[in-house]
Amino acid sequence: MSAKIISGTETAKEIREELKAEVAELKEKHNVVPGLVTILVGEDPASQSYVAAKNKTAHALGIHSEQVTLPAETSEEELLSLVDKYNNDDKIHGILVQLPLPKHIDESKVLYAIDPDKDVDGFHPVNVGKMVLGEQCFLPCTPHGVLELLTRAGVETSGAEVVVVGRSNIVGKPVANLMLQKREGGNATVTLCHTRTRDMTFHTKRADILIVAAGVANMIKGDQVKEGVVVIDVGVNRVGMSESGKAILAGDVEFDSVKEKAAAITPVPGGVGPMTITMLMKNTVQAAKQFAG
Ligand code: GUN
Repeated sequence: MSAKIISGTETAKEIREELKAEVAELKEKHNVVPGLVTILVGEDPASQSYVAAKNKTAHALGIHSEQVTLPAETSEEELLSLVDKYNNDDKIHGILVQLPLPKHIDESKVLYAIDPDKDVDGFHPVNVGKMVLGEQCFLPCTPHGVLELLTRAGVETSGAEVVVVGRSNIVGKPVANLMLQKREGGNATVTLCHTRTRDMTFHTKRADILIVAAGVANMIKGDQVKEGVVVIDVGVNRVGMSESGKAILAGDVEFDSVKEKAAAITPVPGGVGPMTITMLMKNTVQAAKQFAG
């Protein structure tokens, strides 16, 4: 079998077209332009490129976007007062503080300070709690993107054996939770594997749907999955540099061996990556809609 490729690039394009129309409607009916601020502290090159991509996408969709870049020495108090300023700014409906933050800043203190109604990352404990309860809230962008990819690719999740590899707060834990929710796109039987899992292959081989977010390049190989599995590879690992100076990326799944057994698989790049930014835009539009009433 050679797998169907689930293209995040194509799916993200489709959702962005829908969002453009929603942005235009908000402007026309409510005179509201969705506003997003991204706050970056320090000069981490990967974070700089993520934030730049978020702002570029926002502009392309007609979302008002502000980018604040602060020096690495910025104090926690300064950052908290900036968050507070944007909490009270009616032009801004979504606030994103790019992680990781420099060591001297308490990350959770900053995330807790963001108004939950503007928490378009879905990282505030109020939104995390609502997600677990199955209530309306901002869903974290990468897990939300995984869900959309599965839904739009027509993958049946109800009753499926879903195995998630990786238990991060940003991906593994929330995606496992979303897959077991009692609603369409959920209703799966979920296993969450991590670094202490005794026999990883025992679990991955049982998966109808395998979601890998471990942060280890090419960790899952073809002999660890069953025929017909659907694979969502969340990993983005820099494994080298091309002659032109571009990063060479690999997923957490060894694409060439796994695609021979899978029914469908996401590539890296061009899989989950473009979906994450798109879901951030979707959350920003949702925040603006809530603001408009
Ligand atoms: N750093 C890596 N991924 C993310 C994300 O989804 N949101 C934020 N704020 N920072 C990140």
